[in-house]
Amino acid sequence: FAACGGQEKDVYKVAMEPTFPPFDTTDSKTGELSGFDVDLMEAIAADQGFELEWSNMSFGGLISALQSGNIDIIASGMNASDQRRKQVDFSDTYYDSGLVVAVKDGNTAIKSIKDLTPDMRVGGQIGTTGADKCNELQKAGKIKEAKIYDGLDVAMMDLQNGTIDALINDLPVTKAYMKAKPGTIEIVGDVLNAESYGIAVKKGNKELLDQINAGMKDIKDNGTFDKLYSKWFE
Ligand code: ARG
Repeated sequence: FAACGGQEKDVYKVAMEPTFPPFDTTDSKTGELSGFDVDLMEAIAADQGFELEWSNMSFGGLISALQSGNIDIIASGMNASDQRRKQVDFSDTYYDSGLVVAVKDGNTAIKSIKDLTPDMRVGGQIGTTGADKCNELQKAGKIKEAKIYDGLDVAMMDLQNGTIDALINDLPVTKAYMKAKPGTIEIVGDVLNAESYGIAVKKGNKELLDQINAGMKDIKDNGTFDKLYSKWFE
């Protein structure tokens, strides 16, 4: 509880993985955690009258942190997949995304996922659906190695220095990288699968889930969501 002006507010611990701009990043000036997910969650908290304590960790550790009670909320561009719905509960969808294959700019050898060959290394971020795809390709003998990274920043560097031949990552984050750093990487082929991002809470925490859904509905109705969307995506 945070007592302020006599009124006690609930304080919830929320976590994200910060190498995923524009959803989850750190402000270059202040070093503070920043991004669409941060602004979205803060707007929901303000609407619902609770407060947030932010932390960041490896994406691969988020769900177990939630299940063990170390955190209360995950706001980290997390796809509400069927497999994850068995482990945690998700809010309503707040962003529709999908996975793409990215290659180093000018690499004409790979025009889609079909052009990956058994001598290639393909990167993905630990614990993500992109990593799952890489592991699937390796298990099927379609690529030589699924190279799993903790931070997407290192994965992007390795894509450009030739350590990996391709990277499987989320469309909006890959597009944002291309916009920020033209001429470095490019997207090849079609979107591999659809994803729907949700905010995650511990399975059964209906009270918090209902608050998050109510807050999300309010900010969508009152125009705050659209304002945040324009701030981070336009
Ligand atoms: N959307 C993908 C997933 O749910 C990747 C999310 C990565 N998020 C992050 N903050 N690094 O697995």
